[in-house]
Amino acid sequence: MAQNIVWHEPSLQKEERRKRNGHHSAVFWFTGLSGSGKSTIANRVAKKLHELGVQTYVLDGDNIRHGLNKDLGFSEQDRKENIRRIGEVAKLFVDSGQMVFTAFISPFREDRETVRKLLEEDEFIEVYVKCPLSQCEERDPKGLYKKARKGEISDFTGISSPYEEPESPEIVLETDRFSIEECAEQLLSYIKERNWI
Ligand code: ADX
Repeated sequence: MAQNIVWHEPSLQKEERRKRNGHHSAVFWFTGLSGSGKSTIANRVAKKLHELGVQTYVLDGDNIRHGLNKDLGFSEQDRKENIRRIGEVAKLFVDSGQMVFTAFISPFREDRETVRKLLEEDEFIEVYVKCPLSQCEERDPKGLYKKARKGEISDFTGISSPYEEPESPEIVLETDRFSIEECAEQLLSYIKERNWI
């Protein structure tokens, strides 16, 4: 733990950046099984908002694990650290005035709640991308479920590592019942209803 560090009050505040951008800033925290559609929907919504003139950014599990979090694996400890770091990064993006979309399995309720507490009430929107395991396994876009079933990948979420469903997410997107486009529109409506953009 670092010592002798002093917090510097920044010269510009979040509210000033929001005012300049002309919209709210928040993190849309997608959670769900691998293959449920988190990244696809997050990217779709971010693009739609971008086209409406909104500052957006997507933080995606697979991508972040290539860089910032490449030292982390999939043990419970590492997943916790993965989410802790992303929570802090997401908070920075919210502070910078952007709409940020995170697409991480984030399987543990406690870790998601810890991130929620880092932010204000209207800054953390938990988006449960709900899809039965059987359907994710059938989709298997990266062939990982097949490998996990054969025992070639250990601690695989839904197979050999738990996924704790959100208890009261702000939004539930059921990707086995609705198309990607319909789910993206559902999220956009949530944002528009609140006059956030
Ligand atoms: S999290 O559990 O720590 O939130 P994260 O979203 O960063 O996971 O990474 C999940 C992605 O890593 C999956 O979509 C999949 O492509 C890949 N992956 C590789 N090994 C595993 C594993 N053991 N469990 C889950 N996903 C894995």
